[in-house]
Amino acid sequence: MHYGADYNPEQWPEEIWSDDVARMREAGVTMVSLGIFSWSRIQPREGAFDFGWLDRVIDLLHEGGIAVDLATATASPPPWATAQYPEMLPQDEAGATYWPGSRQQFAPSSPVYRRLAGELVTALAERYANHPGVVMWHVNNEYGCHLDADYSDAARDAFRRWLADRYGSIEALNEAWGTYFWSQRYQSFDEVFPPRKAPYSRNPGQELDFRRFTSDMLLECYLMERELIRAAGATQPITTNFMGAFKPANYAEWAEHMDVISDDAYPDPNDPESFRAAAFQRDLVRSLKPEVPWILMEQSTNALNWRPANAPKAPGQMAALSAQAIGRGADGILFFQWRQSRAGSEKFHSAMLPHAGTETRTWREAVALGADLAALPELPAGAATRDARVALVFDWENWWAVEASDHPQNSLDYLAVIQRWYRALHRRHVQVDIVPASRVGEGYALAIAPLLYLLRETDATALTSFVEDGGHLLAGPFTDVVDEIDRFRDGGFATQLGPLCGIRIEDFGALVAPSAPAGEPGEREATFAGDEGLAGVGTLLAEEVHVVADDTRIEASFTAGRRTGDPALTVRETGAGSARYLATIPDEAGTQAVVDRLLAATGVEPVAAGLPDHVEAARRGRLLTLVNHGGPAASVDVSGTDAVTGERVDRVELAAVDWAMVLTD
Ligand code: GLA
Repeated sequence: MHYGADYNPEQWPEEIWSDDVARMREAGVTMVSLGIFSWSRIQPREGAFDFGWLDRVIDLLHEGGIAVDLATATASPPPWATAQYPEMLPQDEAGATYWPGSRQQFAPSSPVYRRLAGELVTALAERYANHPGVVMWHVNNEYGCHLDADYSDAARDAFRRWLADRYGSIEALNEAWGTYFWSQRYQSFDEVFPPRKAPYSRNPGQELDFRRFTSDMLLECYLMERELIRAAGATQPITTNFMGAFKPANYAEWAEHMDVISDDAYPDPNDPESFRAAAFQRDLVRSLKPEVPWILMEQSTNALNWRPANAPKAPGQMAALSAQAIGRGADGILFFQWRQSRAGSEKFHSAMLPHAGTETRTWREAVALGADLAALPELPAGAATRDARVALVFDWENWWAVEASDHPQNSLDYLAVIQRWYRALHRRHVQVDIVPASRVGEGYALAIAPLLYLLRETDATALTSFVEDGGHLLAGPFTDVVDEIDRFRDGGFATQLGPLCGIRIEDFGALVAPSAPAGEPGEREATFAGDEGLAGVGTLLAEEVHVVADDTRIEASFTAGRRTGDPALTVRETGAGSARYLATIPDEAGTQAVVDRLLAATGVEPVAAGLPDHVEAARRGRLLTLVNHGGPAASVDVSGTDAVTGERVDRVELAAVDWAMVLTD
């Protein structure tokens, strides 16, 4: 179990470094991420490297028993680089340049950026490949964090090459993008641009491919660095820090290239439900690559600087959220950052060692957590224990496509809907993996696939086989509408899953969004009801669904609005499993009602019985983690060994913000 933080020693006089190491030992720190923003310190001008200070700090840490996760420092090019090569600066869709003075001022597809970054990485890797203190490589930092996309000339040139590679001929691109529409037909790849600012709606195929391209350009930067590190002979694991469900980067594809998944998470202490979003993020990153460990690479000890109001964490909350991460598979807990900066835009951001020193709750809590983590025995293999029986289907390309413009309903928020389903499962203490449709066959009993608008043939086949083999599927609404290039398939909608569910979709039935101003005319809600208390409020869409198979039953019908009496939820027992179709997006309570129905129908059990809503439970092999995120004190019957104290327990008492880990019998 790693414990530590980003360490930025170049912000401090060298005399302080040995005190840092001593304090790190006091806090139980085992690893620091070093040099993440050190490019201008390591390379003061082109061709000149200054490694003396870095040698000294790595040696000092190593002597102190602190391992180094060495960063490649490429996330913030130095002023000399951008002054000399302004063509490496990124631009927005209107051609405005993102200037230096902050960070991430690079166009990912810029050949100059890549050359300079490559030279730096090679120099670093050659120098430290065999240093015994360096245990991991931390490539760049939060790729894409501040810049969703780059539209510069470097991006234009690279986009043309990427498209030529993908389509082979301009005819194939014209066909894919449907360019006879609005006279958009291209004669050559040299006429194609990134989707820069335009008078009206842009071509959806172009936009979707530009999203893919953007993710690929960032991934290419990572892969370039990874190859250079390996070429220098380094054998340590290589990672780059993810940001959970981050729209611009398709982590489901990136994960293949990570030796360790690492993730940064900053739940908002002002939001009493943010622990559920945090749980979602942990489950997502664990699910990306279950065969390798994942590390919480960054969280905060206390308040941040970048939200409108940066509330402090409640006493105990930092440890509770750390326990949550470990319970959900993490093999390391690290913070941004070790010592609070005294200058720069993050000077108000909390750290392990606060500006106000060690007579602080933050420091005491950091030290206490370090001691608890050090006491933990070897835990069941982090990510690989495969405890979940429920798959929540989540797909990045679909995210890009389903939120594109000019749809029947233009207020869809894919992540918000996915997280609502997740919360309903979380409230019932059900363990969930968050996976693409291609992975539902990996031993799950129940798969939930809302808003799966872009449905590849291979994924439709995977979902169908899942049901045939005994799985229970809930699909819809607005699912199976287009292929992977955002075009309708022949034969209407739900052409692949419709036959499985025994339904046909005639109309998507957009409702006025709940967020629309009061007084906006039109239907806002479509209530639905079935038997045994299954009822809820549908929002955004109330689709016109026709039952077309004799063995499809209507489990709930709309009870108000234009679809009154029509199917809202259908079920068809087929193969060895069942396929349900839901024709609307239920609100929070409605989603809970549908989840409760699914859990009852499929026999999926909670990881622990009889827990109140606000107590979270997660299973990691034999390890049961219980976290009270701030509700009333609770006591839970569970037999086993307390993982921190090693004592036998039959019952766990949890104070208001508290956690426990039990190795169950
Ligand atoms: C991100 C970055 C860090 C730091 C923190 C602040 O996670 O990776 O460098 O800026 O945010 O919360």
